[in-house]
Amino acid sequence: MKKHILLILTGGIAAYKCLEFIRRARDQDYHITCVTTAAAEKFITPLSLTAISGEPVYNDLFDRQAEADIGHIALARRADLIVVAPATADFLAKMAHGFADSLASAILLATEKPVLIAPAMNPSMWHHPATQDNLALLEKRGIYRIGPGMGAMAEAETGMGRMAEPLEILEAVNDLLTAQRAKDVLSFTHSLSEPLSSLDPPARAPIDAQQDVGEKTSLQGYRALVTSGPTREPIDPVRYLSNHSSGKQGHAIAAALAQRGAETLLVTGPVSLPDPPDVTVQKVETAEEMLAACQDALPRDIVVCAAAVADWRVAATHMQKLKKQESGTPPSLVLSENPDILKTISQMTEDRPSLVVGFAAETENVLQHAIAKRLRKGCDWLVANDVSPATGTFGGDRNEIHLLDGATIHSWPRMQKTDIADRLAEEIAQYFRAVSCLE
Ligand SMILES: Cc1cc2nc3c(=O)[nH]c(=O)nc-3n(C[C@H](O)[C@H](O)[C@H](O)COP(=O)(O)O)c2cc1C
Repeated sequence: MKKHILLILTGGIAAYKCLEFIRRARDQDYHITCVTTAAAEKFITPLSLTAISGEPVYNDLFDRQAEADIGHIALARRADLIVVAPATADFLAKMAHGFADSLASAILLATEKPVLIAPAMNPSMWHHPATQDNLALLEKRGIYRIGPGMGAMAEAETGMGRMAEPLEILEAVNDLLTAQRAKDVLSFTHSLSEPLSSLDPPARAPIDAQQDVGEKTSLQGYRALVTSGPTREPIDPVRYLSNHSSGKQGHAIAAALAQRGAETLLVTGPVSLPDPPDVTVQKVETAEEMLAACQDALPRDIVVCAAAVADWRVAATHMQKLKKQESGTPPSLVLSENPDILKTISQMTEDRPSLVVGFAAETENVLQHAIAKRLRKGCDWLVANDVSPATGTFGGDRNEIHLLDGATIHSWPRMQKTDIADRLAEEIAQYFRAVSCLE
Protein backbone atom coordinates (compact mmCIF):
# COMPACT_ATOMS: atom_id res chain seq x y z
CA MET A 1 0.00 0.00 0.00
CA LYS A 2 1.25 3.49 -0.87
CA LYS A 3 2.69 5.42 2.05
CA HIS A 4 1.41 8.94 2.64
CA ILE A 5 3.85 11.79 3.20
CA LEU A 6 2.52 15.15 4.24
CA LEU A 7 5.01 17.74 3.02
CA ILE A 8 4.84 21.09 4.79
CA LEU A 9 6.64 23.84 2.90
CA THR A 10 7.57 27.04 4.72
CA GLY A 11 8.90 30.36 3.47
CA GLY A 12 12.48 29.88 2.34
CA ILE A 13 14.23 30.02 -1.02
CA ALA A 14 14.96 26.29 -0.81
CA ALA A 15 11.25 25.60 -1.33
CA TYR A 16 11.93 25.20 -5.05
CA LYS A 17 14.06 22.11 -4.29
CA CYS A 18 10.97 20.39 -2.94
CA LEU A 19 9.61 19.92 -6.45
CA GLU A 20 12.50 17.56 -7.04
CA PHE A 21 11.81 15.83 -3.72
CA ILE A 22 8.14 15.32 -4.65
CA ARG A 23 9.03 13.97 -8.08
CA ARG A 24 11.60 11.51 -6.68
CA ALA A 25 9.28 10.45 -3.86
CA ARG A 26 6.48 9.76 -6.32
CA ASP A 27 8.93 7.69 -8.39
CA GLN A 28 9.34 5.58 -5.23
CA ASP A 29 5.57 5.22 -5.01
CA TYR A 30 4.91 7.64 -2.20
CA HIS A 31 1.68 9.59 -2.09
CA ILE A 32 2.52 13.26 -1.38
CA THR A 33 0.15 15.92 -0.09
CA CYS A 34 1.49 19.46 0.27
CA VAL A 35 0.61 22.07 2.86
CA THR A 36 2.13 25.53 2.54
CA THR A 37 2.52 28.50 4.84
CA ALA A 38 1.58 31.91 3.45
CA ALA A 39 5.29 32.76 3.18
CA ALA A 40 6.04 29.55 1.28
CA GLU A 41 3.70 30.68 -1.49
CA LYS A 42 5.94 33.71 -2.03
CA PHE A 43 8.62 31.26 -3.15
CA ILE A 44 6.69 28.49 -4.86
CA THR A 45 3.21 28.39 -6.31
CA PRO A 46 0.49 25.95 -5.29
CA LEU A 47 -0.01 25.37 -9.01
CA SER A 48 3.52 23.91 -9.44
CA LEU A 49 3.07 21.78 -6.32
CA THR A 50 -0.28 20.45 -7.51
CA ALA A 51 1.12 19.74 -10.95
CA ILE A 52 4.04 17.73 -9.57
CA SER A 53 2.28 16.03 -6.65
CA GLY A 54 -0.99 15.38 -8.50
CA GLU A 55 -2.85 16.44 -5.35
CA PRO A 56 -4.60 19.59 -4.12
CA VAL A 57 -2.42 21.87 -2.01
CA TYR A 58 -3.76 22.98 1.37
CA ASN A 59 -2.85 26.27 3.00
CA ASP A 60 -5.78 27.80 4.87
CA LEU A 61 -6.84 26.70 8.33
CA PHE A 62 -10.17 28.45 7.89
CA ASP A 63 -10.98 27.26 4.35
CA ARG A 64 -14.55 25.95 4.75
CA GLN A 65 -14.39 23.77 1.67
CA ALA A 66 -11.07 22.14 2.57
CA GLU A 67 -12.19 21.67 6.17
CA ALA A 68 -15.37 19.98 4.97
CA ASP A 69 -13.52 17.84 2.37
CA ILE A 70 -10.70 16.55 4.54
CA GLY A 71 -10.09 18.70 7.65
CA HIS A 72 -6.76 19.54 9.22
CA ILE A 73 -6.92 16.76 11.80
CA ALA A 74 -7.56 14.17 9.09
CA LEU A 75 -4.62 15.55 7.08
CA ALA A 76 -2.43 14.99 10.12
CA ARG A 77 -3.84 11.51 10.75
CA ARG A 78 -3.69 10.01 7.30
CA ALA A 79 0.02 10.80 6.88
CA ASP A 80 2.52 8.06 7.70
CA LEU A 81 5.18 10.72 8.06
CA ILE A 82 5.27 14.52 8.04
CA VAL A 83 8.19 16.29 6.40
CA VAL A 84 8.80 20.01 6.96
CA ALA A 85 11.02 21.24 4.12
CA PRO A 86 12.31 23.82 3.99
CA ALA A 87 11.87 24.47 7.69
CA THR A 88 12.40 28.18 8.35
CA ALA A 89 13.76 29.58 11.59
CA ASP A 90 10.37 31.14 12.13
CA PHE A 91 8.53 27.88 11.67
CA LEU A 92 10.91 25.97 13.96
CA ALA A 93 10.17 28.57 16.64
CA LYS A 94 6.44 28.04 16.13
CA MET A 95 6.84 24.28 16.33
CA ALA A 96 8.96 24.47 19.44
CA HIS A 97 6.45 26.70 21.21
CA GLY A 98 3.28 24.92 20.13
CA PHE A 99 1.74 27.56 17.90
CA ALA A 100 -1.35 26.62 15.92
CA ASP A 101 -2.06 29.82 14.04
CA SER A 102 -1.80 28.38 10.53
CA LEU A 103 -2.87 25.15 8.91
CA ALA A 104 0.76 23.96 8.87
CA SER A 105 1.42 24.62 12.55
CA ALA A 106 -2.00 23.31 13.64
CA ILE A 107 -1.32 20.01 11.85
CA LEU A 108 1.98 19.63 13.64
CA LEU A 109 0.35 20.23 16.98
CA ALA A 110 -2.36 17.69 16.18
CA THR A 111 -0.16 14.86 14.92
CA GLU A 112 1.31 11.84 16.63
CA LYS A 113 3.11 10.72 13.48
CA PRO A 114 6.88 10.96 13.06
CA VAL A 115 8.02 14.39 11.91
CA LEU A 116 11.19 15.06 9.94
CA ILE A 117 12.45 18.62 9.55
CA ALA A 118 14.89 19.85 6.90
CA PRO A 119 15.98 23.28 8.16
CA ALA A 120 17.18 25.89 5.68
CA MET A 121 18.30 29.36 6.60
CA ASN A 122 21.07 31.89 6.60
CA PRO A 123 24.08 30.83 8.78
CA SER A 124 23.50 33.67 11.26
CA MET A 125 19.90 32.58 11.78
CA TRP A 126 21.06 28.97 12.16
CA HIS A 127 23.71 29.78 14.75
CA HIS A 128 21.45 32.14 16.71
CA PRO A 129 20.89 30.82 20.25
CA ALA A 130 17.11 31.17 19.76
CA THR A 131 17.18 28.76 16.82
CA GLN A 132 19.55 26.38 18.57
CA ASP A 133 17.38 26.37 21.72
CA ASN A 134 14.29 25.69 19.60
CA LEU A 135 16.07 22.82 17.88
CA ALA A 136 17.14 21.35 21.22
CA LEU A 137 13.51 21.46 22.37
CA LEU A 138 12.33 19.77 19.20
CA GLU A 139 15.03 17.12 19.41
CA LYS A 140 14.03 16.40 23.00
CA ARG A 141 10.48 15.81 21.78
CA GLY A 142 11.63 13.24 19.27
CA ILE A 143 11.44 15.33 16.10
CA TYR A 144 13.84 13.99 13.46
CA ARG A 145 16.16 16.30 11.57
CA ILE A 146 18.11 16.05 8.35
CA GLY A 147 20.74 18.73 7.70
CA PRO A 148 21.35 21.53 7.22
CA GLY A 149 24.76 21.33 5.64
CA MET A 150 27.50 23.72 4.68
CA GLY A 151 27.27 25.41 1.36
CA ALA A 152 26.55 28.43 -0.73
CA MET A 153 23.49 30.44 0.28
CA ALA A 154 21.13 32.45 -1.86
CA GLU A 155 22.54 35.63 -0.24
CA ALA A 156 25.96 34.88 -1.78
CA GLU A 157 27.24 33.71 1.61
CA THR A 158 28.72 30.35 2.46
CA GLY A 159 28.10 28.61 5.74
CA MET A 160 25.90 26.29 7.72
CA GLY A 161 22.23 26.44 6.83
CA ARG A 162 21.86 24.93 3.38
CA MET A 163 18.90 22.57 3.18
CA ALA A 164 19.70 18.88 2.69
CA GLU A 165 19.40 17.77 -0.93
CA PRO A 166 16.08 16.26 -2.05
CA LEU A 167 17.56 12.77 -2.35
CA GLU A 168 19.06 12.97 1.13
CA ILE A 169 15.67 13.94 2.51
CA LEU A 170 14.12 11.03 0.67
CA GLU A 171 16.75 8.69 2.11
CA ALA A 172 15.85 9.91 5.61
CA VAL A 173 12.17 9.34 4.84
CA ASN A 174 12.94 5.77 3.78
CA ASP A 175 14.94 5.22 6.97
CA LEU A 176 12.18 6.53 9.19
CA LEU A 177 9.45 4.54 7.52
CA THR A 178 11.60 1.42 7.76
CA ALA A 179 11.98 2.20 11.45
CA GLN A 180 8.25 2.54 11.75
CA ARG A 181 7.80 -0.81 10.03
CA ALA A 182 10.35 -2.36 12.37
CA LYS A 183 8.44 -0.94 15.32
CA ASP A 184 5.21 -2.43 14.01
CA VAL A 185 6.86 -5.83 13.57
CA LEU A 186 8.36 -5.62 17.03
CA SER A 187 5.18 -4.69 18.76
CA PHE A 188 3.34 -7.36 16.79
CA THR A 189 5.69 -10.14 17.81
CA HIS A 190 6.14 -8.81 21.36
CA SER A 191 9.68 -10.08 21.12
CA LEU A 192 12.33 -7.44 21.35
CA SER A 193 15.22 -9.85 21.17
CA GLU A 194 13.92 -11.83 18.20
CA PRO A 195 16.22 -11.75 15.15
CA LEU A 196 15.00 -9.15 12.67
CA SER A 197 16.54 -10.69 9.59
CA SER A 198 13.08 -11.02 8.09
CA LEU A 199 12.84 -7.26 7.77
CA ASP A 200 14.91 -6.62 4.70
CA PRO A 201 16.90 -8.99 2.58
CA PRO A 202 20.39 -7.59 1.99
CA ALA A 203 20.30 -5.50 -1.19
CA ARG A 204 23.99 -5.67 -1.91
CA ALA A 205 26.03 -8.54 -3.35
CA PRO A 206 26.38 -11.26 -0.72
CA ILE A 207 29.67 -10.66 0.96
CA ASP A 208 30.29 -14.35 1.53
CA ALA A 209 30.41 -14.86 -2.22
CA GLN A 210 33.06 -12.13 -2.48
CA GLN A 211 35.09 -13.76 0.27
CA ASP A 212 35.00 -17.09 -1.56
CA VAL A 213 37.59 -15.58 -3.87
CA GLY A 214 39.88 -16.07 -0.90
CA GLU A 215 41.27 -12.51 -0.95
CA LYS A 216 40.50 -9.59 1.28
CA THR A 217 39.86 -6.31 -0.48
CA SER A 218 42.76 -3.97 0.08
CA LEU A 219 42.64 -0.77 2.11
CA GLN A 220 46.25 0.03 1.34
CA GLY A 221 46.75 3.80 1.29
CA TYR A 222 43.76 4.54 3.56
CA ARG A 223 44.02 5.82 7.10
CA ALA A 224 41.61 4.52 9.72
CA LEU A 225 40.76 5.48 13.28
CA VAL A 226 38.87 3.11 15.57
CA THR A 227 37.64 3.77 19.10
CA SER A 228 37.09 0.85 21.44
CA GLY A 229 36.32 -0.15 25.01
CA PRO A 230 34.57 1.78 27.75
CA THR A 231 35.54 5.14 29.17
CA ARG A 232 36.12 5.66 32.87
CA GLU A 233 34.83 8.84 34.45
CA PRO A 234 36.46 9.45 37.84
CA ILE A 235 34.39 10.21 40.93
CA ASP A 236 37.42 10.53 43.16
CA PRO A 237 40.97 9.08 42.96
CA VAL A 238 39.72 5.52 43.61
CA ARG A 239 36.20 5.31 42.16
CA TYR A 240 34.75 5.82 38.70
CA LEU A 241 31.67 5.53 36.49
CA SER A 242 32.00 3.12 33.56
CA ASN A 243 30.23 0.32 31.69
CA HIS A 244 30.72 -3.33 30.79
CA SER A 245 32.29 -2.87 27.35
CA SER A 246 35.19 -5.30 26.89
CA GLY A 247 36.61 -3.68 23.74
CA LYS A 248 36.55 -7.03 21.92
CA GLN A 249 34.47 -5.74 18.99
CA GLY A 250 36.40 -2.48 18.50
CA HIS A 251 39.80 -4.16 18.83
CA ALA A 252 38.79 -6.83 16.30
CA ILE A 253 37.68 -4.12 13.83
CA ALA A 254 41.00 -2.31 14.17
CA ALA A 255 42.81 -5.59 13.53
CA ALA A 256 40.65 -6.37 10.47
CA LEU A 257 41.22 -2.93 8.94
CA ALA A 258 44.95 -3.16 9.54
CA GLN A 259 44.99 -6.64 8.02
CA ARG A 260 43.65 -5.07 4.81
CA GLY A 261 46.50 -2.58 4.77
CA ALA A 262 44.84 0.47 6.35
CA GLU A 263 47.16 2.55 8.53
CA THR A 264 45.14 2.12 11.71
CA LEU A 265 45.09 3.99 15.00
CA LEU A 266 43.10 2.48 17.86
CA VAL A 267 42.05 4.86 20.62
CA THR A 268 40.94 2.67 23.47
CA GLY A 269 39.51 3.04 26.93
CA PRO A 270 40.72 0.71 29.72
CA VAL A 271 40.45 -2.95 28.59
CA SER A 272 42.32 -6.11 29.39
CA LEU A 273 43.05 -7.12 25.80
CA PRO A 274 46.38 -7.35 24.00
CA ASP A 275 47.08 -4.67 21.38
CA PRO A 276 46.00 -5.84 17.93
CA PRO A 277 48.86 -6.56 15.49
CA ASP A 278 50.02 -3.77 13.12
CA VAL A 279 47.84 -1.21 14.88
CA THR A 280 49.06 1.92 16.68
CA VAL A 281 47.33 2.01 20.05
CA GLN A 282 46.62 5.07 22.15
CA LYS A 283 45.21 4.43 25.62
CA VAL A 284 42.85 6.90 27.25
CA GLU A 285 40.57 6.89 30.29
CA THR A 286 37.82 9.47 29.94
CA ALA A 287 35.46 10.56 27.14
CA GLU A 288 37.15 13.94 26.98
CA GLU A 289 40.56 12.29 26.55
CA MET A 290 39.11 10.00 23.88
CA LEU A 291 37.69 12.94 21.93
CA ALA A 292 40.98 14.84 22.17
CA ALA A 293 42.93 11.79 20.95
CA CYS A 294 40.53 11.37 18.02
CA GLN A 295 40.72 15.03 17.08
CA ASP A 296 44.53 14.89 17.16
CA ALA A 297 44.43 11.91 14.82
CA LEU A 298 42.26 13.56 12.16
CA PRO A 299 42.04 13.84 9.22
CA ARG A 300 41.43 10.15 8.46
CA ASP A 301 39.54 8.41 5.65
CA ILE A 302 37.69 5.98 7.89
CA VAL A 303 36.48 6.39 11.45
CA VAL A 304 34.74 3.59 13.32
CA CYS A 305 33.38 4.68 16.71
CA ALA A 306 32.93 1.37 18.51
CA ALA A 307 33.78 2.60 22.02
CA ALA A 308 31.04 2.62 24.65
CA VAL A 309 31.64 6.20 25.69
CA ALA A 310 30.04 7.17 28.99
CA ASP A 311 27.27 9.69 28.38
CA TRP A 312 27.96 11.49 31.62
CA ARG A 313 30.86 12.36 33.85
CA VAL A 314 30.91 13.59 37.42
CA ALA A 315 30.64 17.37 37.24
CA ALA A 316 33.23 18.00 39.96
CA THR A 317 35.70 15.18 40.52
CA HIS A 318 36.81 14.96 44.13
CA MET A 319 40.55 15.36 44.62
CA GLN A 320 40.57 13.11 47.70
CA LYS A 321 38.76 9.87 48.38
CA LEU A 322 35.19 10.56 49.47
CA LYS A 323 34.57 9.51 53.05
CA LYS A 324 31.45 8.01 54.58
CA GLN A 325 29.53 10.55 56.65
CA GLU A 326 28.84 9.78 60.30
CA SER A 327 25.26 10.83 59.65
CA GLY A 328 24.95 8.01 57.11
CA THR A 329 23.99 10.47 54.35
CA PRO A 330 25.43 9.25 51.06
CA PRO A 331 27.10 11.85 48.81
CA SER A 332 25.11 13.14 45.84
CA LEU A 333 26.78 12.96 42.47
CA VAL A 334 26.07 15.78 40.06
CA LEU A 335 26.64 14.66 36.49
CA SER A 336 27.40 16.64 33.39
CA GLU A 337 27.13 15.53 29.79
CA ASN A 338 30.19 14.17 28.05
CA PRO A 339 31.18 15.28 24.55
CA ASP A 340 29.51 13.32 21.76
CA ILE A 341 32.47 11.91 19.84
CA LEU A 342 30.47 10.28 17.03
CA LYS A 343 28.38 13.40 16.42
CA THR A 344 31.40 15.70 16.60
CA ILE A 345 33.26 13.71 13.95
CA SER A 346 30.17 13.10 11.77
CA GLN A 347 29.29 16.77 11.68
CA MET A 348 32.76 18.14 11.01
CA THR A 349 32.60 20.83 8.38
CA GLU A 350 36.25 20.58 7.33
CA ASP A 351 38.18 17.42 6.53
CA ARG A 352 35.32 15.17 7.54
CA PRO A 353 36.32 11.51 7.15
CA SER A 354 34.85 9.94 4.00
CA LEU A 355 33.18 7.20 6.01
CA VAL A 356 32.07 7.51 9.61
CA VAL A 357 30.66 4.35 11.19
CA GLY A 358 28.93 4.55 14.56
CA PHE A 359 27.80 1.87 16.98
CA ALA A 360 24.50 1.82 18.84
CA ALA A 361 24.40 -0.35 21.93
CA GLU A 362 20.76 -0.71 22.87
CA THR A 363 18.79 -2.78 25.34
CA GLU A 364 15.35 -2.35 23.75
CA ASN A 365 13.77 -1.30 20.44
CA VAL A 366 17.19 -1.77 18.88
CA LEU A 367 16.27 -0.86 15.31
CA GLN A 368 14.11 2.15 16.01
CA HIS A 369 16.73 3.66 18.30
CA ALA A 370 19.48 2.90 15.81
CA ILE A 371 17.70 4.49 12.85
CA ALA A 372 16.96 7.60 14.85
CA LYS A 373 20.55 7.68 16.14
CA ARG A 374 22.05 7.53 12.65
CA LEU A 375 19.97 10.52 11.60
CA ARG A 376 20.66 12.44 14.80
CA LYS A 377 24.41 11.94 14.75
CA GLY A 378 24.87 12.30 11.01
CA CYS A 379 27.15 9.27 10.65
CA ASP A 380 27.18 7.34 7.36
CA TRP A 381 26.72 3.82 8.65
CA LEU A 382 25.54 2.58 11.99
CA VAL A 383 26.08 -0.83 13.54
CA ALA A 384 23.28 -1.63 15.97
CA ASN A 385 23.55 -4.35 18.57
CA ASP A 386 21.50 -5.51 21.50
CA VAL A 387 23.53 -5.35 24.70
CA SER A 388 20.83 -6.39 27.15
CA PRO A 389 22.34 -8.82 29.69
CA ALA A 390 20.49 -11.84 28.25
CA THR A 391 22.37 -11.50 24.94
CA GLY A 392 25.81 -11.79 26.57
CA THR A 393 27.13 -9.26 24.04
CA PHE A 394 29.10 -7.18 26.55
CA GLY A 395 32.17 -9.20 27.36
CA GLY A 396 31.16 -12.18 25.20
CA ASP A 397 32.83 -13.41 22.01
CA ARG A 398 29.72 -13.37 19.84
CA ASN A 399 27.46 -10.63 18.65
CA GLU A 400 24.46 -10.12 16.40
CA ILE A 401 24.28 -6.85 14.55
CA HIS A 402 22.24 -4.84 12.07
CA LEU A 403 24.21 -2.64 9.68
CA LEU A 404 22.31 0.47 8.62
CA ASP A 405 23.85 2.13 5.60
CA GLY A 406 21.18 4.75 5.02
CA ALA A 407 19.21 2.83 2.43
CA THR A 408 18.90 -0.64 3.87
CA ILE A 409 19.09 -2.56 7.11
CA HIS A 410 21.39 -5.54 6.76
CA SER A 411 20.70 -8.02 9.55
CA TRP A 412 23.62 -10.38 10.02
CA PRO A 413 23.33 -13.70 11.79
CA ARG A 414 24.88 -14.15 15.22
CA MET A 415 28.60 -14.77 14.84
CA GLN A 416 32.01 -14.31 16.44
CA LYS A 417 32.98 -10.69 17.01
CA THR A 418 36.12 -11.33 14.96
CA ASP A 419 33.96 -12.50 12.03
CA ILE A 420 31.75 -9.42 12.35
CA ALA A 421 34.88 -7.27 12.32
CA ASP A 422 36.19 -9.03 9.23
CA ARG A 423 32.89 -8.69 7.40
CA LEU A 424 32.55 -5.02 8.36
CA ALA A 425 36.12 -4.29 7.25
CA GLU A 426 35.35 -6.03 3.96
CA GLU A 427 32.21 -3.90 3.50
CA ILE A 428 34.30 -0.80 4.17
CA ALA A 429 36.97 -1.87 1.71
CA GLN A 430 34.34 -2.68 -0.93
CA TYR A 431 32.79 0.73 -0.38
CA PHE A 432 36.09 2.51 -0.96
CA ARG A 433 36.78 0.35 -4.01
CA ALA A 434 33.37 1.31 -5.45
CA VAL A 435 33.94 5.00 -4.71
CA SER A 436 37.39 4.93 -6.32
CA CYS A 437 35.85 3.37 -9.45
CA LEU A 438 33.45 6.32 -9.70
CA GLU A 439 36.19 8.94 -9.39
C1 LIG B 1 14.05 36.42 -0.06
C2 LIG B 1 13.80 35.80 1.27
C3 LIG B 1 14.34 34.57 1.56
C4 LIG B 1 14.13 33.97 2.80
N1 LIG B 1 14.70 32.77 3.06
C5 LIG B 1 14.58 32.22 4.29
C6 LIG B 1 15.20 31.00 4.60
O1 LIG B 1 15.86 30.36 3.76
N2 LIG B 1 15.06 30.50 5.84
C7 LIG B 1 14.35 31.17 6.80
O2 LIG B 1 14.31 30.68 7.93
N3 LIG B 1 13.70 32.31 6.53
C8 LIG B 1 13.81 32.86 5.29
N4 LIG B 1 13.18 34.04 5.02
C9 LIG B 1 12.33 34.65 6.05
C10 LIG B 1 10.98 33.94 6.12
O3 LIG B 1 10.37 33.91 4.84
C11 LIG B 1 10.08 34.64 7.14
O4 LIG B 1 10.65 34.48 8.42
C12 LIG B 1 8.67 34.14 7.13
O5 LIG B 1 7.95 34.83 8.13
C13 LIG B 1 8.61 32.65 7.38
O6 LIG B 1 7.26 32.26 7.47
P1 LIG B 1 6.83 30.76 7.69
O7 LIG B 1 7.77 30.20 8.69
O8 LIG B 1 5.42 30.85 8.18
O9 LIG B 1 6.88 30.09 6.37
C14 LIG B 1 13.36 34.63 3.77
C15 LIG B 1 12.77 35.85 3.46
C16 LIG B 1 13.00 36.45 2.24
C17 LIG B 1 12.37 37.76 1.93
